[in-house]
Amino acid sequence: MQNSFIKVLISLSLILGLCTSVTANEIDALEVRPSLVEPVVSIPTHLVAVPVVNPGEYYLPPRYDDIPDTEYGDIVRWGRKIFINTQVHGKRYVGNGLNCTSFHLNEGRQPHASPMWAAYGMYPMFRTKSNKVVQMTQRIQSCFKYSMNGIAPTVDAPEMDALITYMHWLSKDVPIGVALPGRGFAGIKKTRDPSTINGEIMYKTQCAMCHGTNGQGQKNTNNVGYMFPPLWGVDTFNRKAGMNKIKTCAQFVKANMPLGAGYTLSDDEALDVCYYIWIHDKPEDSDASMLSNNLSPKRGTGR
Ligand code: HEC
Repeated sequence: MQNSFIKVLISLSLILGLCTSVTANEIDALEVRPSLVEPVVSIPTHLVAVPVVNPGEYYLPPRYDDIPDTEYGDIVRWGRKIFINTQVHGKRYVGNGLNCTSFHLNEGRQPHASPMWAAYGMYPMFRTKSNKVVQMTQRIQSCFKYSMNGIAPTVDAPEMDALITYMHWLSKDVPIGVALPGRGFAGIKKTRDPSTINGEIMYKTQCAMCHGTNGQGQKNTNNVGYMFPPLWGVDTFNRKAGMNKIKTCAQFVKANMPLGAGYTLSDDEALDVCYYIWIHDKPEDSDASMLSNNLSPKRGTGR
């Protein structure tokens, strides 16, 4: 009798504990960020200002404060939450420590960091990766499977609706089928083969202070997700992610890294450091079998 009373007490406190932690999660620090549309914007951590190259040259998405006070607006706000804090709001689909904003900087607004407003109007799109026409929903499924090393939400999942709605709102007045300036990442041209030796030097001097000497990143103080995301190891993107291609990685790094100092590395330096990131272990290609993952040469050289 006494025992079961104690059990009830324990389960009650567990339930209460769960409820409070859910509430605590909901008031998340990212939520209170101001809208980010000025030429100089702050990143989630407020540590560094990210200057937009050539302000005025790029499409300017609507401001956070302009999200309408309607049911559509509620879904936009929810989609934004999933986008900037996937660790909490999209957790059931995520297998690593990243958020959508680990790649799509500044809430998916940053030119040359694969901004959502430049992607939205380009779908449906023919992709050589899958050799067929894919819709935005299917593209997002790939992000979850590879970049987030997780599982794909179904195309009618509520989170999927919310993400698409957020992108739709960010892309207000954007023309359909037009490749806008700032789309994707920066262009890159190599003048020699990449070198891991130089890559290691670049990494240690320009990246390790944030991403860690071992590429492990730095966790947030509340231990949910990362302040500086990992670049290799178990908690990062997998071998089938775009970022695992040395070239794609270099295009991203050239325009955006070191954070706040984009366009400071040369094309060759960006390729070197990405080659160095590439040679380190990360989760394997989630589509391939264990055998082929272990026996076949690593994919994704992309050179
Ligand atoms: C001042 C800190 C800082 C420095 C220095 C820095 N980064 Fe980052 N990096 C970040 C942050 C923060 C993010 C995620 C963006 C966000 O959350 O807003 C990121 C994201 C990334 C990503 C995509 C996310 C991931 O986990 O793969 C790559 C790749 C990357 N950085 C590579 C580099 C490379 C290469 C260098 C060195 C040339 C570098 N970074 C230097 C802070 C930094």
